[in-house]
Amino acid sequence: MAPVAEPDFKEVKAHDSEHYLREEGKREPKESFKFILGEVRDYVSGLDSPRIADVGCATGDFLYHTGQAFPDAELTGIDFYPELLEQAAADVPGGNFIKADVLTGEGWPDEQFDAVFMNGVHSIFFEVDPWLDNMLAITKPGGRTFIFGIWNPDDVDVLTSVRYVDDPDTPRSGWNYVSKTTMTRHLERRGKSAKFTDWEIEMDLPRDKDDPMRTWTFRREDGTRVTINGAQIVHNFSLLEITDA
Ligand SMILES: C[S@@+](CC[C@H](N)C(=O)[O-])C[C@H]1O[C@@H](n2cnc3c(N)ncnc32)[C@H](O)[C@@H]1O
Repeated sequence: MAPVAEPDFKEVKAHDSEHYLREEGKREPKESFKFILGEVRDYVSGLDSPRIADVGCATGDFLYHTGQAFPDAELTGIDFYPELLEQAAADVPGGNFIKADVLTGEGWPDEQFDAVFMNGVHSIFFEVDPWLDNMLAITKPGGRTFIFGIWNPDDVDVLTSVRYVDDPDTPRSGWNYVSKTTMTRHLERRGKSAKFTDWEIEMDLPRDKDDPMRTWTFRREDGTRVTINGAQIVHNFSLLEITDA
């Protein structure tokens, strides 16, 4: 399969960082963080002083709540935005923060962790191999890698970019949607196993008036929720757990 060039989304990423600096995620964890921490509880609490990394950590919200759930964990956050990492270091006591790029490997650490997380990030990228290799490189042998976000249950890999009508010159990722089957094959080729645990949000998310690409929910007639964004892409969330095969 021919590789797809990663478009230059710098402006969009800067916009993303502004959003995360505004958020107040330390007080109450996101619903998805509660789900992820519940799913990994048995594994992490069975480890002695677990080393945990969060890739694309933004201002450290997930690590903050991970530290609350597992007080003896050693916490490391990785992101490529220095201003987000500065805020994370101020907010997450005892956390270690590293400026590195999961796609290019620039600044990538050579240490390894028992549990490596990446939440709500992988859909930004068009190609799987670069970021997947970097995630696995920092996972200890016998450790686990967890990737939370949208995975297509149908056998179609969806690559999208979008343009806002009032800002047509800025390219934006529309949230790429790798299929579970393709991801499982990527992992099988590396001698790894994939386990997907699906998740549905249990609260209503309002539309963000300023940004049509932020997700929101609406209810079907039977009361179940649909999560969608302004690209009209329905989101099926799942936690991918990667282990040695
Ligand atoms: C959508 S936010 C998700 C933040 C957080 N994980 C959460 O669940 O709330 C994406 C994060 O990934 C970071 N990011 C995007 N591309 C990255 C890259 N190539 N390397 C490292 N971090 C990246 C952004 O700076 C941002 O903090």
